[in-house]
Amino acid sequence: FQTRCLDGIKLTITAGPTREAIDPVRYISNHSSGKMGYALAEAAADAGAQVTLISGPCNLSAPERVNCVNVVSAEDMLTASLNHLGEIFIACAAVADYRPVAAADQKIKKSQASMSIELVRNPDIVSTVASHAQRPFTVGFAAETQDVLHYAKDKLQRKNLDMIIANDVSNSEIGFNADQNAVTAIWPKGETSLPQASKTQLARQLIALIAEQYINKGAS
Ligand code: C5P
Repeated sequence: FQTRCLDGIKLTITAGPTREAIDPVRYISNHSSGKMGYALAEAAADAGAQVTLISGPCNLSAPERVNCVNVVSAEDMLTASLNHLGEIFIACAAVADYRPVAAADQKIKKSQASMSIELVRNPDIVSTVASHAQRPFTVGFAAETQDVLHYAKDKLQRKNLDMIIANDVSNSEIGFNADQNAVTAIWPKGETSLPQASKTQLARQLIALIAEQYINKGAS
């Protein structure tokens, strides 16, 4: 691990799940723990970066020397991301794909045997950042359960990213909520697989790799 490989670089990370309100007491969300994003924030701070961690609701305390911005919904996360663009953006959050069209003002009462909630697509935060005029070096994640590398490469192109980090979440030992992960990092001109390790160790390897590609891109 190269020490201080991101000295003074402004880096933004999204982490954790988002919550999409149904009414004042209910929401739609997912099982993201935020562990990978928080580990990346810590590793980036250790590498000398000025880190802003934009976090959905999770049970982790913000790493030292990291500016933590707490958000709830995908729309809040997008606004905070655009307000904190730096030189590198890492989208680690498990953003809800859809949200209820409108959150009810009052708690919804039960009456009928069935009910439906109309959902609308949420904005794609990492794609929005990648098409921004002040586009940072943009890194996304691809959690897949099949054809992991194929879908990840497609996402790298479609979302116009500089790097994508693919992980197979069909294996419960790694990925979502687990303490360990194994990933393949893919960029337009190469890829490298990082074998199963703790999220802390993996975060340090990924930050070194991101720093290397970020510097290479600036040099080319
Ligand atoms: O399309 P998919 O959700 O699989 O893409 C995953 C990547 O896109 C992750 O980096 C995630 O943080 C990001 N993403 C996002 N905004 C969304 C959906 C996904 O930034 N609305």
